[in-house]
Amino acid sequence: MTLYETIYARRSVRRYDKTPLTEAELSRINAYLLGVTQLPGQSARFEIVDGGKLKGGLAPYAILAFADDGGNEMINIGYVLQEVDLFLQSEGFGSVWCGMASPKEHQPGYRILLGFGPSSAPLRGGEADFKRKKLSDVSNEDNATARAVRLAPSAVNFQPWKMEFADGLITIHSNVRGVGKILPGRFYLYDLGIALKHAQTALTHQGRKIEDIKLDGGGKDSFAQIRYS
Ligand SMILES: Cc1cc2nc3c(=O)[nH]c(=O)nc-3n(C[C@H](O)[C@H](O)[C@H](O)COP(=O)(O)O)c2cc1C
Repeated sequence: MTLYETIYARRSVRRYDKTPLTEAELSRINAYLLGVTQLPGQSARFEIVDGGKLKGGLAPYAILAFADDGGNEMINIGYVLQEVDLFLQSEGFGSVWCGMASPKEHQPGYRILLGFGPSSAPLRGGEADFKRKKLSDVSNEDNATARAVRLAPSAVNFQPWKMEFADGLITIHSNVRGVGKILPGRFYLYDLGIALKHAQTALTHQGRKIEDIKLDGGGKDSFAQIRYS
């Protein structure tokens, strides 16, 4: 299954099989993780750990994300780890974003983790299996890119995005309202990076060329913008 197809099939997996992953599986996942391109100017660090090293972990393994303060580091982590989420599920593993979990021991620069492991949880059967806002509530246009972004995972399923399409340009605005505003940890910035990954994956699938990505991760009016041809 391609990453694009996986957008229409993935789910957050919270039930895992007891069998451990093999060394070969773990090193293949690590190789994929290290190969994901980060956003321009970003240099997050990632580490695969055993779930036993975590408080509140939901899965037998996790990818911890670390970054220095710099501006758009949380958008970047969302963008990178969402590609890994899609990769894992395309390969038959389960995965789940865990904002509420953390390493038992303090680790400087730690931000968030993606849990993963072997799972027999079935994939979703398509768009109709997702609980999401109406497309017209999150986008000014109905098209394949907007539909792929609409299905992106987000913290507490808040879906804090507003997509604006113009000629060769898509801007995904953070649309943080209501309880979303009081959610700790500025999760909406990860959500923005996750949505950006879905948009880019859909555009690439359509044969579009990504010309430029512009980010503003400064606050609640943050946005990510893709210029494409
Ligand atoms: C940044 C982020 C943090 C999340 N944190 C948690 C968490 O701590 N616990 C949990 O059970 N799910 C967590 N989730 C998963 C969301 O609840 C889930 O993505 C959303 O409900 C949509 O469901 P789906 O992923 O199955 O499509 C998180 C998701 C994101 C994007």
